[in-house]
Amino acid sequence: MVLAVVPKVKLNDGSEMPVLGLGTYLAKDDEVQKAVSHAIDVGYRHIDTALYYRNEADIGEVIREKIKQGVVKREDLFIVTKLWNSYHDPERVEYACRKSLENLGLDYIDLYLMHHPVGYIYVDDNNLRPTYSDEKLMLNDVDYLDTYKAMEKLVKKGLTKSIGVSNFNKEQLERIIQFCKIRPVTNQVECNPGINQKKLIKYCRDHGITVTAYAPLGRPIAKEKIPTFLFDDIILSIANKHKKTPAQVILRYLIDINTIPIPKSTNPERIEENIKLFDFKLNNDEIELIDSLNTGNRLYQFPLMQDHKYYPFKAEY
Ligand code: A2P
Repeated sequence: MVLAVVPKVKLNDGSEMPVLGLGTYLAKDDEVQKAVSHAIDVGYRHIDTALYYRNEADIGEVIREKIKQGVVKREDLFIVTKLWNSYHDPERVEYACRKSLENLGLDYIDLYLMHHPVGYIYVDDNNLRPTYSDEKLMLNDVDYLDTYKAMEKLVKKGLTKSIGVSNFNKEQLERIIQFCKIRPVTNQVECNPGINQKKLIKYCRDHGITVTAYAPLGRPIAKEKIPTFLFDDIILSIANKHKKTPAQVILRYLIDINTIPIPKSTNPERIEENIKLFDFKLNNDEIELIDSLNTGNRLYQFPLMQDHKYYPFKAEY
């Protein structure tokens, strides 16, 4: 039963993207299949995956089955996957994209993202995180601009409708905007009340780029009451006022500050909880209160990439 019709945002290339998606990082096999199936049944149309998650084939199988059953049409779905760091060499970009398409069993992707601005040395398709004997990552120095230019060709070939980036900072976006023909439609970054990305969102908005919010709930661990913002009195009192849960208030906040959250869940109740966001809205005072929880601390810092010249998180934003 569809619980909500998720509104869409118009992208700078004319496509439309649902403002809420299902995240699937760390979900595999039967678990991810059940999650995606339930998510589609209750109204999710935007599914986020990546070659690196190694769950594209599981997800693709469910999507094809749902289309076959007539539950959804392909054109109603918005499927996002990502070019992994080992395929930044422009010669490997189309190969990696075709591999994702083959895994998914689809003719096209809706949105193909460069997963990181940082590239790794390609070893083989089974080793997506190559390291030296001292555990250091095998990084390479392919310019993400060259990688992006190869991604532009995928649009012309019809392999993906839209392209974008992930984990890019402002300066890196500026370079892309200056030198590329196709503007990225989104920059997918960590975004939650702990790191609300207000400056990056403004920069992106001024340049017609949406922001997709990964780890929107801050990857909660209930037992340990982390992240602290999820258990903060500010969130609790706003949740009580609206008769919503803290997670729903946070996801609504992220939509209200113009991002596209992609909460990951494999639990049917939480999948349902996370889509019931479109029957309430936060007012400016509530948004400002939640803004005050921003510490700028990242959960995902990717420390092993930090010596790379394109490591994105040394800049202010
Ligand atoms: P589960 O899959 O068991 O629901 P994030 O998207 O911020 O990385 O968070 C993902 C984590 O948050 C997962 O461990 C997921 O667990 C949990 N989660 C998802 N939705 C909710 C929710 N509504 N309330 C509490 N935890 C949630």
